Amino acid sequence: MTGRLIALEGGEAVGKSTQARLLAARLDALLTFEPGDTGLGGQIRSLVLTATGRPLSHRAEALLMAADRAQHVAEVIRPALDAGTHVVTDRFIGSSLAYQGFGRGLGAQEVLAVSLFATGGLDCDLAVLLDAGEGAPWPHQASPGDRIEAEAAEFHRRVRDGYRALAAQNPGQWAVVDGSGSVGEVAEAVYAAVRERLDV
Ligand code: TMP
Repeated sequence: MTGRLIALEGGEAVGKSTQARLLAARLDALLTFEPGDTGLGGQIRSLVLTATGRPLSHRAEALLMAADRAQHVAEVIRPALDAGTHVVTDRFIGSSLAYQGFGRGLGAQEVLAVSLFATGGLDCDLAVLLDAGEGAPWPHQASPGDRIEAEAAEFHRRVRDGYRALAAQNPGQWAVVDGSGSVGEVAEAVYAAVRERLDV
């Protein structure tokens, strides 16, 4: 049996990476992330996230994320799934839909088509949205952050609202978990959401 692909999704600083790690350990799944979890991906991550002061077009950004995803699926995700291993990825197609589709305004449908081309049609079995709730959207950390983190609050609000719209439109593929509790509470809620939907 092929493994299941579960994506952890959400904005900046919602504890997504911690939750991805905890979920992967609990499911005995392979933990991976985007962008940057392959040799090529590491170079793409630096190209797309390093603030150089030079503009990067929104479409180029979307295509770089897609190129990272194509390599990630070919080199890491697909072989693991084919070997029967579950995979937990810290970000997947949902991130491109929310950030490039909604945040950059490229449109979720077009961005989805690009992503599905990149993955050869593979999408995740479940996307878990860690929603930080109302209040300051995606609080900026003390450091200036990378090129995308440094975007204006309005951009991050569009990303947050985009994520919520994606989850509402496709409840079969998306689960929304309140990310505002303790790490342990959120981990339990994430695990419960996964067990409710997938036989893992
Ligand atoms: P990270 O902070 O979770 O490592 O993600 C890196 C940044 O890349 C984060 O700001 C979200 C952004 N991103 C996109 O804009 N589109 C994508 O498809 C992915 C995977 C990440």
